[in-house]
Amino acid sequence: MSKDKKKRVLSGVQPSAGQVHVGNYLGAMKRFVHLAKEHETFFCVVDLHALNTVKDGKELRGYTHSLAAAYLAIGIDPEETVLFRQSDLPEVCELSWILACNFPLGLLERGHALKDARAKGDKVDSGLMYYPILMAADILLYKANLIPVGADQKQHIEMTREIAQKMNLAYGEIFPVPEPMIEEATGVIPGLDGRKMSKSYDNYIGLFETEKKLKKKVMKIVTDSLGVEDKKDPQACNVFKLYKLFADESQQAALADKYSAGGMGYGEAKLDLFEVMNQELAPLRESYQDWVSRPDDLEDVLRQGAKKAREEAADTMAELRNAIGIGPLP
Ligand code: AMP
Ligand code: TRP
Repeated sequence: MSKDKKKRVLSGVQPSAGQVHVGNYLGAMKRFVHLAKEHETFFCVVDLHALNTVKDGKELRGYTHSLAAAYLAIGIDPEETVLFRQSDLPEVCELSWILACNFPLGLLERGHALKDARAKGDKVDSGLMYYPILMAADILLYKANLIPVGADQKQHIEMTREIAQKMNLAYGEIFPVPEPMIEEATGVIPGLDGRKMSKSYDNYIGLFETEKKLKKKVMKIVTDSLGVEDKKDPQACNVFKLYKLFADESQQAALADKYSAGGMGYGEAKLDLFEVMNQELAPLRESYQDWVSRPDDLEDVLRQGAKKAREEAADTMAELRNAIGIGPLP
């Protein structure tokens, strides 16, 4: 299949403790695999972003390998996608500084991540406020056009668009203004308690949990207290919300009928959910375990990706340095 070279797709995921979760997978990563068939794609492990929260070098390396293994296990092919580690390209930090010098501090202070952390009374390092600038640099360094993410990243993409427009106005048309790709059905994947699935709420299902753990977590999903005989609304139920994203249409219709007819308890719906999830995730789990046991091979993949990413980054930085008047005359 020929790829649409005109639209470059880029996204990133933070390495963090535990594995990627079902929210990351359904909200963003599963789409990456399909997008790679039709577009030029760049996907990265954003380890510099993770420095805000991970303060142990050994641990961070482990999380980076785990995430690289996850990308590969879900079907990202490093031959057709540029799969790389953010920190392998120091250019991204240089670009961040240049962007920071052109972005109003007041806008960063309105960032959701910063406001949430302050509201919780967390100790905040400066990197958290700077976070959207680094993300803008990830996107603009490779002149990406389309950014597949979950709904929680909308504000960050809006900031990136603003920075790109400001830079273009000041220095000439250098950066494409990127578009977010946020899907309504998967923008916010609910966790076990119905809030957004997130590691910080501890309500997540790891993507590669063992079969036993997966079942245990699925059985814990919170539902309302209607009894077995009651008729139930599938669309209002967290179990069904997840089921829809793993089951085919006829399976969805069959379970929806059982909800509306009454006579089915939530335990039964949960078992149906476990079955479809396990069917999709079992092979991914196996592949993940295989990749994660081969850190040298993971490093090779990341090194190759960084090499390809660097060619693009070098072109962008040469153009930008010249436009803003830094570095030796070309
Ligand atoms: P992070 O783990 O924060 O780096 O997120 C990686 C990607 O997963 C981003 O595109 C997020 O928007 C997406 N994501 C994380 N949690 C969810 C969720 N509960 N629902 C939908 N997308 C999510
Ligand atoms: N901020 C994103 C998140 O937490 C991760 C990220 C960093 C990203 N750089 C990116 C996503 C560039 C898309 C494009 O989920």
